[in-house]
Order: sequence, then C-alpha cells, then structure tokens
Amino acid sequence: MSTVNADLTYNYKVVRQFAIMTVVWGIVGMSLGVIIASQLVWPQLNLDLPWTHFGRLRPLHTNAVIFGFGGSALFATSYYVVQRTCQARLFSDGLAAFTFWGWQAVLIAAVITLPLGLTSTKEYAELEWPIDLLILVTWVSYAIVFFGTIMKRSAPHIYVANWFYGAFIITVAVLHIGNNLALPASLFKSYSAYAGVTDAMMQWWWGHNAVGFFLTAGFLGMMYYFVPKQANRPVYSYRLSIVHFWALIATYVWAGGHHLHYSALPDWAQTAGMIMSLILLAPSWGGMINGMMTLSGAWHKLRTDPILRFLVVSLSFYGMSTFEGPMMAIKTVNALSHNTDWTIGHVHSGALGWVAMISIGAIYHLIPKLWGIKEMYSTGLINVHFWLATVGTVLYIVAMWVNGIMQGLMWRAVNEDGTLTYSFVQALEASWPGYLVRFIGGVIFLSGMLVMAWNVWMTIRQKDAVAADNVAAQPA
Ligand code: HEM
Ligand code: HEM
Repeated sequence: MSTVNADLTYNYKVVRQFAIMTVVWGIVGMSLGVIIASQLVWPQLNLDLPWTHFGRLRPLHTNAVIFGFGGSALFATSYYVVQRTCQARLFSDGLAAFTFWGWQAVLIAAVITLPLGLTSTKEYAELEWPIDLLILVTWVSYAIVFFGTIMKRSAPHIYVANWFYGAFIITVAVLHIGNNLALPASLFKSYSAYAGVTDAMMQWWWGHNAVGFFLTAGFLGMMYYFVPKQANRPVYSYRLSIVHFWALIATYVWAGGHHLHYSALPDWAQTAGMIMSLILLAPSWGGMINGMMTLSGAWHKLRTDPILRFLVVSLSFYGMSTFEGPMMAIKTVNALSHNTDWTIGHVHSGALGWVAMISIGAIYHLIPKLWGIKEMYSTGLINVHFWLATVGTVLYIVAMWVNGIMQGLMWRAVNEDGTLTYSFVQALEASWPGYLVRFIGGVIFLSGMLVMAWNVWMTIRQKDAVAADNVAAQPA
C-alpha cells in the first residue's frame, strides 16, 4: 500500500503503552520463572510460607508471561498493524484506552489473588470469576476496537496478519466463556459448571487452544507483518498464507484431546486428538516456511540486523516445537513424555524460542517508530540480547529434554519380578543437574530482558524522541 490519506492520524498512544508493558511484564514473568526454577533446585527457597510456595508462584509465572508479556505484545502489535494495514485510525480511542487499563487491572488482580491461593484450579484459567468477568468486558472491547477498525478501513483488502489477529480474538473469547462457566459460591470461590471428564475435556479444549490461538495465531499475525517489514521483502506467498490460515484454524480446535491420553476421556476422542495433532504439522510448517522464505534474497541482512535474527530464529523454534508437539501427541510417545520435564522443554521451546523471540523482535522494530526516531539506541545491545536469549533458550530446553526422557525411562523401568527399578526420589535426584542448568538458562534469558529494558529506556529518552498521541499516517 502506498497511498496515504493526508488527514489520517494513527493512535500510537495505546500501542506505546502496551509495548512498554510487554517489557515490564516480560521481566516480572520471567523473574518469577527464575524464582520457581530456583525452588526446584533449592527447595529451601519456598521459604516455608504459603504465599511464596512453588504451587502458588507457578500459576503466577504462567499468567504473567502468557497474559502479561504475550498479551501486551499482542495488543501492541495488533493495534499497530491493524491501523497501518487498514489505513484507518483505531475505531475508538476511549475503548482502546479502556482495554489497556482493563487488561492491566486483570494482571494486577492476578498478582494479588494467586499468591493468596485464590484459584479456580483450571490451568491457564486460574483467575476467579469476578476477574473472569473483567477479562470478558475487556476482551469484548478489544474485539470492538479491532473489528471496528477493520470495518472503517480505507485500504481495499484485509491484510492476512489481521486475519490471524481476528481469529485469535474471536476464538479466545469463545474459549474463555466456554471454559469458565461456573457457579459462584462466594466472591472468590466458584465451582465449574462441568463435572468429571467433561470438565477435563472443556479445560483442555481451552488449554490447547490457549496455545493454538493465544500463543500461536496472534503471533503468526505478528510474523506476517514484521518479518516482511524487517526484511523489506513481500510475503513469500500470499496464496500460501490464506491456505495456512484456514488449515491452521480448522485443525487446531480438534487437537486438545492429546492432553488427556490414557485418561477417562473416551478412547476415540483421544485418538481424534492425536490424529488432528499429526495433521497440524502441515499447516504449522506451511506457515513457518512462508515466513522463512520471505527472506529469499535478503538472507545477507541477517549478518547485520539482530532484529531480523530474532524473527528468523523464532520461526525455527516455531518449526521445532510444532514438529515436537505432534510427535508427543502420538499415544505411545506420550506414554513416555507425559508428566515429565519433556513437556516443560516443549512448552519453553514454544514459549521462549517462538513467542518471546518474535515478540522481542517486533517490539525492537516498533519502539523507534512509535517514538518517531530512526533506530534503537544501540544495535550492539540488541545483538547481545539476541545471544543471551538464544543461549538461555537452548540451555533451558536441552536440560528439560534430557531430564524428561530420563524421568520417563526411570519411572517405567521394572525388575524381573515386576517391582519398580527406581523410586520416584531417585528419579528426582537424577533430575537435579538438569534443574540447575535450566535455572542458569533462565537467568541468562532474563538478563537479556534487562538489557532490552535499558536499551528501550535509552531510546525513548533521546532528545529527538517524540511521544505525540496523534501520529500522521504513513504507508502500511
Ligand atoms: C526466564 C524465562 C523462564 C523461566 C526460567 C521459566 C521457568 C519455568 C518453570 C520452572 C516452570 C515450572 C516447571 C515445572 O512445573 O516443572 C515453568 C512453567 C511454565 N512456563 Fe515458564 N519460564 C520462563 C519463561 C516463560 C515464558 C516466556 C513463557 C510463555 C510465553 C512460559 C510459559 C510457561 C508455561 C505455559 C508453563 C507451564 C507448563 C506446563 O504446565 O506444562 N515460561 N516455567
Ligand atoms: C502442532 C503444534 C503442537 C502440537 C500438536 C502440540 C502438542 C502437545 C502435546 C502432545 C503436549 C503434551 C500433552 C501432555 O502430555 O500433557 C503439549 C503440551 C504443551 N504445549 Fe504443545 N504442541 C504444539 C505446539 C505448541 C506451541 C507452538 C506451544 C507454545 C507456544 C505449545 C505449548 C504447549 C504447552 C504450554 C503445553 C503444556 C500444557 C500443560 O500440560 O500445561 N505447544 N503440546
């Protein structure tokens, strides 16, 4: 798109707010990750207090990284991308501001209630019903702002990044309402509307699609905008991006059964989950290849552009974790991997390698643009961050793979007389070195985030940085 309406201005204020909060929640969430990782190495660090115990800080970690860090990155980039690709200002400045404060209020509520032990106990949906209602209102406002902007666009077509962001917004709304239906018993206690295996099925329909739509579809929207932008090349194949979109969203919603292998869920439903997970490899890799091939003719830029490195390495981790996931969904493989650290390794190859790296790349791309300056304060520091993030991720996931496979094998080893070869404690003791390496990897990754915070701070306080609310439109 090259034509620009001279009277058009963009709302960058809300984008700037969410961009800053991405870094802040990244540091908070990952610090919590480092704390719980250290507790698994040195249990004394639980401090013998209920509020600081692993069991309470772990959900706080997942909420802070997924919804605080990932969520803020998604809000920031979607508001930016939808304005620029639609050549339209956000549908409502007031409602957009409400989504910012509403979302931050949800996160603060999580920081207060989870350490107090107030939880619905559903993973990634732990927050109690009054907070769920606030999420709902905020999310519906988000949908109105996003789709309202698309409705008033002056560009003729809807760029593919917006399709992914749109699917993420709609699906998360449906999943959030479906999984959180509950009967309140008091202000901070509710009981799920579902019972037994139906409850488990609803939970993992949500849980898996939290991965598929919160941690994947929205970030694919990011990929389709920021990779071509940073590489200064058009998307490799627009046709493939459309096939990618429909294939991905049609498949993801059926795969949740793989979280309930060998459970009371009917066997056919487990097998359906496994098969759909295997099919999911194709659209996932189609998308990854589309992103990678966008660099055709621009690979040399990787030598000098650490932002592009973040984006490309995130795609390799995306490819890796979406290969590993379908393998783990095969029932016989899952019999080994389930409940071991292998799952944790898989999670973080997606979470650190894919979600965090692409968000970090996108935020580095955004910050100078949002403050009207040419580039980040220090490209060298972005490069330092890139290496810290890569080394941290690799240490984390390799340690968990080793631990996971070892645990699975130790748990199932039996003697000739049928008794277990190893006790659980023996497997735990053998896991200790892996936990230490994971902790070190986490500290390295977190230190990269601190470098980022410094670089962002130095960038936005430069003399020529402007923070005007109304920014004149530029080409998409
Ligand atoms: C410095 C970086 C990080 C460290 C050190 C870290 C550490 C941890 C630890 C120790 C656990 C608990 C593992 C267990 O129960 O055995 C965990 C769980 C988890 N983390 Fe992180 N984490 C980090 C970053 C992230 C990020 C950026 C995300 C998401 C974007 C994330 C998502 C998760 C999820 C979803 C779980 C739960 C996994 C499950 O239940 O299977 N983490 N993390
Ligand atoms: C084709 C794509 C993928 C498939 C088929 C897949 C499959 C799986 C399987 C089979 C498990 C283990 C379930 C269990 O034994 O309990 C799992 C766990 C998990 N995966 Fe994936 N995965 C995929 C991609 C991803 C990506 C890209 C991410 C992150 C961005 C991710 C995040 C997670 C999380 C957070 C869990 C742990 C859930 C929990 O138990 O708390 N997955 N996945």
